[in-house]
Amino acid sequence: MAITHIELRHKFATFWESRGHKEVPAITLVPQNDPTTLFTGSGMQQFVPNLLGEPHPQGNRLYNIQPCLRAQDIEEVGDNRHTTAFEMMGNWSLGDYFKKDQLNWLFEFFTKELGLDPHKLYVSVFAGEGNLPADDASIEIWKEIYKKYNIDAKVGERIVKYDAKKNWWSRGGPPDTTPVGDPCGPDSEVFYDFGEEYKFHENSAWKDEACHMNCDCGRYIEIGNSVFMQYRKEGQGNFKELENKNVDFGGGLERILAACYDNPDVFMTDLYQKIIAITEKISGKSYSEESNKPMMRIIADHMKAAVFVIHAGVLPSNKEHGYVLRRLLRRSMVKMYTLRGQMTTAAEFTKIAEAILETYDGIQGIDKAAEASHVISVISNEMERFGKSLDRGLKEIKKMDTVDAKAAFDLYQSYGFPVEITEELLQEKGLSINKEEFRAEFDKHRDLSRSSSAGKFKGGLADSSDQTLKYHTATHLLHQALHDVLGDSVRQEGSNITPERLRFDFFAETKLSDEQVKQVEQIINGKIEAALPVAFEVLPKADAEKLGARSFFKEKYPDMVKVYFIGSDKDHMADAYSKEYCGGPHVSNTKDIGKLTLSKYKTIGANMYRIYAE
Ligand code: SER
Repeated sequence: MAITHIELRHKFATFWESRGHKEVPAITLVPQNDPTTLFTGSGMQQFVPNLLGEPHPQGNRLYNIQPCLRAQDIEEVGDNRHTTAFEMMGNWSLGDYFKKDQLNWLFEFFTKELGLDPHKLYVSVFAGEGNLPADDASIEIWKEIYKKYNIDAKVGERIVKYDAKKNWWSRGGPPDTTPVGDPCGPDSEVFYDFGEEYKFHENSAWKDEACHMNCDCGRYIEIGNSVFMQYRKEGQGNFKELENKNVDFGGGLERILAACYDNPDVFMTDLYQKIIAITEKISGKSYSEESNKPMMRIIADHMKAAVFVIHAGVLPSNKEHGYVLRRLLRRSMVKMYTLRGQMTTAAEFTKIAEAILETYDGIQGIDKAAEASHVISVISNEMERFGKSLDRGLKEIKKMDTVDAKAAFDLYQSYGFPVEITEELLQEKGLSINKEEFRAEFDKHRDLSRSSSAGKFKGGLADSSDQTLKYHTATHLLHQALHDVLGDSVRQEGSNITPERLRFDFFAETKLSDEQVKQVEQIINGKIEAALPVAFEVLPKADAEKLGARSFFKEKYPDMVKVYFIGSDKDHMADAYSKEYCGGPHVSNTKDIGKLTLSKYKTIGANMYRIYAE
């Protein structure tokens, strides 16, 4: 029996702890006060300031397992290894050890701890590009490592050089699109060779070419990436060496587990066992049948992502996070329809959600007993509603005896189910549509939705603009001002900043009257005019609690925390107007904020309110 995901988590933790690393809690899937990305997409996201040189309260050797969501990959799900939701196992050196220790330890973890066969491990390194030099040092280190295993690692075979498209990492991708101000650097990936038999299974696009690590045919699968964060992008083509040379390692837990099973299908690991089993039960179809696999994988992935997203506090809506959640749920229902050829009830879908909660119970802050009823009611409401639309749309199609491309496409838009279904259903009735016109409508739509989602779904449009900093500090003032006016029942539920505005969600026992909204605004502007200093201290959590610093209840905090104080000097922290756990960054004085206007105030749920401010 191969290792379980629980054992893998323990092994990872013990391994890095015994090499002096401290665990840092994962951040929530919906990053707070970070306008750069909709969802947390990598483990390093919370460490950006630290990679740029700011000391981390827990020291300079860190590790964790971070839940991530890459909604931009939604169309790729269906093969054996792509998922939107995954967990990233990460370790970091902040200016401490560098390439040699990282690569040696990582290889030791894979081969000695997990027992992976070193002969099946292949690596890539950065070939250099423009004025960014090739990573020859890593090549030498890898050769030495393989030598210890009596493997003659030849460059071009076991160690392969790739350009910046493949072997450079930043939140925005290669050097050209690396956000200015972001840490970045060359990386070295480790691939697991699942064997010849997986070579052309699913992705025949490569069948005429020589197989290589990055050809993505399914034979070699990347199981880890060591990024050597040694630069900061200053401007186009301008990369400054950082004083600290950092390591940022990330490896997908699901894929590492798949390598331990020596089976490239992540959906066959114990992480997905219960989820696939219940999907089989509901659909009456077997996962062992090749043609069922893509749909079952999409359902398993999307439902898991949906549960993670609901756990992070998101509700279905037509915007941003809520829209992604809605899309995940609807897509699951449509795929289930295709798989079964009949409708699936909301109640059946909640069984899948239960299997997911069961699998993750006690992991990543998920508590099945405590949250099952909420998760289930969100999913069942949404599925109930969409189920009706889908049903109506299907009837509509059945009634049609002629159809043009535009009409078929409108069906998609009115009833929200994808064109491929419309197409299939029409075919069943012997109706055909002009494929080219249909395609054109479809592409038009896809381009539109791609371009509108590009900015939103891609991580890495780093924006630590002055405006963002201002809104961030203003958020702290707003939080405190709400306490001043409404008392201590106020609890932050979420916050979000764009360069145009800030948004703040909170729970309170009573609703603000118009008068009180004015009052909150006046308090904030009073604090801005008072030109209060903004500063932080790193403190033991117990001390921060004693000072009454506000924390965000959905976040877990390490033993040492960073607290921002507004309106006090170091010796009088307890007297500060606002004290709040926060990673920063902020303006250094409230006068930098300028005037703040509360532009909108509304109720978003039972005792839940939302404020927008500009
Ligand atoms: N930041 C890198 C990645 O996401 C390594 O952690 O792949």
